[in-house]
Amino acid sequence: MLLSEKIPAHVGIIMDGNGRWAELRGLPRIEGHRRGSERAREIIAAAMEVGIKTLTLYAFSIENWQRPKPEVTTLMKLLEIYLRNEFNEFMEKGIVFRTIGETWRLPDNIQALITEMEARTAGNTGMTLIAALSYGGRNEIIRAVKKLVSSGIDPDKITEDSFDSFLDTAGLPSPDLIIRTSGERRISNFLLWQGAYSEFYFADTLWPDFTKDEFYEALHDYQMRERRFGAVPLRAKP
Ligand code: IPE
Ligand code: IPE
Ligand code: MG
Repeated sequence: MLLSEKIPAHVGIIMDGNGRWAELRGLPRIEGHRRGSERAREIIAAAMEVGIKTLTLYAFSIENWQRPKPEVTTLMKLLEIYLRNEFNEFMEKGIVFRTIGETWRLPDNIQALITEMEARTAGNTGMTLIAALSYGGRNEIIRAVKKLVSSGIDPDKITEDSFDSFLDTAGLPSPDLIIRTSGERRISNFLLWQGAYSEFYFADTLWPDFTKDEFYEALHDYQMRERRFGAVPLRAKP
């Protein structure tokens, strides 16, 4: 059972394990990515159902550009198909769609689609869905530093909040919970600045097998935790 008052406002998911899912079945890796995209659809709906306000999905990292060209090309095709299919659904569900990362490196047709989706969904009032595409945390921080420096800001005026406003995630809350599937226990350059106090949940399940029930299990696990942010527990005696 989930406690409605402790639903994380922002959940980030590192959707990992598509390739291994396919390889285990003797299928091409892209089949894993296709099944992974179906899983994303289900988890987005599940997140909305419990009232998560912001969901960030790590779909393609800046390091993923180094993969063999055929995999990158087919991944981009799949991404385009996925976005085209979901556009109406996002409008119907009132989803606000945003992206983070170096999206200008994506194929032109995807960039155009993203621009249109961001513009058309901006006035929606439902869940904010953020796709991390061509995203890397260190890259985002460096780009923020460049913008900060060229803004001519007085160094004494630089604060965590002002720095935050130069990041791709400007205006969004930090993730309360970051989930990673596939048994890997690392952050792989995801939301480095924003995840300073995130809770982490690692699932051994490969992303195409990650069900709504397991997602809720992660939320339940999160709800059992005590977040301290460096302070002493509330029950502690002075
Ligand atoms: C995650 O699955 C999706 C992307 C990185 C695009 P992987 O493709 O990394 O799958 P594994 O980790 O090789 O199994
Ligand atoms: C992280 O997965 C990126 C995404 C899920 C999009 P990777 O499979 O690229 O990360 P590593 O290589 O295992 O660290
Ligand atoms: Mg992987």
